[in-house]
Order: sequence, then C-alpha cells, then structure tokens
Amino acid sequence: MRTQVVIIGSGPSGLLLGQLLSNAGIDNVVLERVTKEYVLSRIRAGVLEEGACAMLEEAGAAERMRLEGLPHDGFDLTFDGQRHRIDLHGLTGGKRVMVYGQTEVTRDLMDQREKTGGKTVYEAADVELHDFDGDKPYVTYRKDGVEQRIDCDFIAGCDGFHGASRKAAPASLLKVYEKVYPFGWLGIIADVPPVNHELIYSNHPRGFALCSMRSHTRSRYYVQVPLDEKVEDWSDDRFWDEIRRRLTPDAAEAMTTGPSIEKSIAPLRSFVAEPLRFGRMFLVGDAGHIVPPTGAKGLNLAASDVRYLFDALREYYGEKSMAGIDGYSARALRRIWKAERFSWWMTTLMHRFPDDGGFGQKIQEAELDYTVNSRAASVALAENYVGLPY
Ligand code: FAD
Ligand code: DHB
Repeated sequence: MRTQVVIIGSGPSGLLLGQLLSNAGIDNVVLERVTKEYVLSRIRAGVLEEGACAMLEEAGAAERMRLEGLPHDGFDLTFDGQRHRIDLHGLTGGKRVMVYGQTEVTRDLMDQREKTGGKTVYEAADVELHDFDGDKPYVTYRKDGVEQRIDCDFIAGCDGFHGASRKAAPASLLKVYEKVYPFGWLGIIADVPPVNHELIYSNHPRGFALCSMRSHTRSRYYVQVPLDEKVEDWSDDRFWDEIRRRLTPDAAEAMTTGPSIEKSIAPLRSFVAEPLRFGRMFLVGDAGHIVPPTGAKGLNLAASDVRYLFDALREYYGEKSMAGIDGYSARALRRIWKAERFSWWMTTLMHRFPDDGGFGQKIQEAELDYTVNSRAASVALAENYVGLPY
C-alpha cells in the first residue's frame, strides 16, 4: 500500500492532523495499536484553548463542541482559606476557554473521519518506522497476524509518550529534558452536578485539589496524592471526604457526592524531546513532550504542534517547499517550552512538596498572594491559561 502521510496513533493529535490533511486532499492512513473502544475509554483532558477549538472548527469536527461545550470566562484559586476569582475574560481582553472532554474531541474526530472516508487501521501491532532519514520512508505493522507495509512521503509520530516513534529516533540525535514530580493526581468522574459553575484550583496544607467538570451533570475532581498511593485504597467515601477537606467551607458544603464512574492515579512529569523532526519523521503531541496536568496544557499543545505540521505539509504539497518542514521543530518547540514553563510554574505554585521545608512554603504563599493581588501577575497567569498565540 502507498499513501502520502502515515500517522501513527489515533489520539487527538493523530486524528486532528489526519482530518486536516484529508480536507486538504492529502492522502493519509492512521495506524492505532488498540481498539477504537479502548481509545474512547481513556479519560484525560478537559479544557480547550481557543486555538484548539478553532482547529476543530477547521477540521469540520466542532459541531457538538459548539452545542455541548461549556465556555468558561474564569476560574477560582483557593488558598489560605480564601477563594479568589481569576477573570480570564477581563484579564486577556476577551478570551475564554472551552470545557469539553478529550473523549468527546476524539469521538467527534473519529466520526468525522468515518464520514469523510479516512482510513484508520485499529489493532495495528508491532508498528515499525523505516528509512525516514531518506526519501522513501515506510512503516510496517501486523494486522490479524499478517505483516503489512505502507510506503509514504512522511511519517507523523502521534503515538503518545509510550509510542514507537520517539523510540525509533536515533539516540545520538535525540536530547531529552525531564522532571518527575514527587506526587500524582488521583482523579474521579461522577455523575453529580459540579460544585461550582467554574473550575476551582485549591492549594491546601493537605495537598492540591481541582474541581472540574465535563457537563452540568458530570464532575471531574482530582486530589494530589503521594506517588506510592494505590487506587484500591481509595473508596468513593474516602475521596469525597478528602476533597471536601481541601476546599473552603462554602465549597465543601455545596459539593454533591455520588458513586464514581472512573477512578485512577496519574503521575506528574515534565518532558521534552529535541528535535521533533528526524528527516521525514515528526514527533507530535505527547510523543514529543509531556506537561504536568496543572493548567491543562497537554491536549492544547498537541493541537498547536498539529497546526505547525499541517501548515508545513500543506506548503510542501502545494508549493513543493520544504521551508515549513525544515522549520517545524524549532517553531513547535518555542511554544512548547513556554507551556512547559507555565505548567511547571502552576504545578509548583499549587502543590505541597514533601521536601520543601519552611522556606519553600513561605515563597509559595508569597507567590500566591502576588499572583492574585498584582494585576500584572494575574494577567500573566490568565494569558498563559487561555493559551499563548500560535
Ligand atoms: P495520546 O492521546 O496519548 O494518543 C496516542 C495514541 O497513539 C493512543 O491512541 C495510543 O494507543 C496510540 N499508540 C501508542 N503507541 C502506539 C504504537 N506503537 N503504534 C500505534 N499506535 C500507538 N491533559 C490535560 O490537558 N488535562 C488533563 O487532565 C490530562 N489528564 C491526563 C491523564 C493521563 C492519564 C494522561 C496519560 C494524559 C493526560 N493529559 C491531560 C494529557 C493529554 O491527555 C495529552 O496531552 C493528549 O492525550 C495528547 O494527545 P496525543 O494524541 O498526542 O497522544
Ligand atoms: C482538567 C484537567 C486539568 O489538568 C486542568 O488543569 C483542568 C481541568 C480536567 O480534566 O477537567
């Protein structure tokens, strides 16, 4: 088989890139290791920047988001027993974010791909990338026990942090930067109304807590836990008791509890691979970089990578120019490092660090006070939260 672009991974980055390419008449095939149902069962991000929403519009996959997504103009920061509202809309000259789950983004992109006849191979085993340092790259995989090969012009590695693409990059050319945090997030989803109409990020002596949502009837809540914590040790009652203790009394009082429909623990990590291009292979989204979730940048960065790569590929096929392709890595990394900085900063601001000592704690309190009481600092938080320009 032959196609123009092989896309490895059917997460948001692979599906978004695939749809934009298909719409532009550029042939592509998506190879996904697991089943469609498995991809759709993963609960991940919840907050979209305007840039990511615009790309879903461009892909033709934004109809349901427009109807069911919840535009948010601000969020609350809680510390020292007080709630402070960050007015995203007012501080950024009218920008806002959209609360719409990654699962729904993925479903909408899958539906659009099916509608427009895009080809996806699910349960593609042992995907391997070949000869991307030359002009004739190809990808091999096994489907139903049979070895398959696709020849192509380019390979887009959209296969997440544990995928095959970054592993295929020559070790001598790849440099990685990494920071692992000494805690994780225990998250639940429950079909109860959200405690507040906007998100609440809470810094509390017992640890960070986040109150988010997926709809007016579905809540997404997280608490900071030690890395060795086991999800089996967290009954729903224990979770609800813990999160309420980390909120202000009015919020704790207002919280509706109920049975969880999902519960899991995610570790927190900052990670960047450089460069993001190896000949005719590109790393896109989580395949190339990870942010800790505080600040909700992971999915949004995947979308901006796709913006740069799609523009580059369109330019290549339209004008036979390699300029965008040559510039992809540097262009994407400039935005990635700013989101890495912001996610690291917000993680550092909001969590309790086991080894911080009194000095670290006092600096954190001063930073929180400054963040909510200085307009300049509030603007810096808001403009990063709504998303820096592409
Ligand atoms: P992914 O969504 O990881 O998609 C990669 C796809 O490639 C997957 O479908 C995978 O099955 C497939 N794949 C992997 N290996 C192969 C292979 N060898 N061959 C073929 N296919 C392969 N971000 C936020 O902003 N807020 C959050 O709350 C949040 N929570 C998260 C919780 C967890 C547990 C994780 C892991 C991430 C979370 N993120 C969050 C980050 C966000 O979900 C990611 O940044 C986003 O999913 C990146 O999209 P992607 O398409 O690049 O990668
Ligand atoms: C969600 C996750 C985040 O990391 C965040 O900062 C905001 C919302 C969420 O899953 O809803």
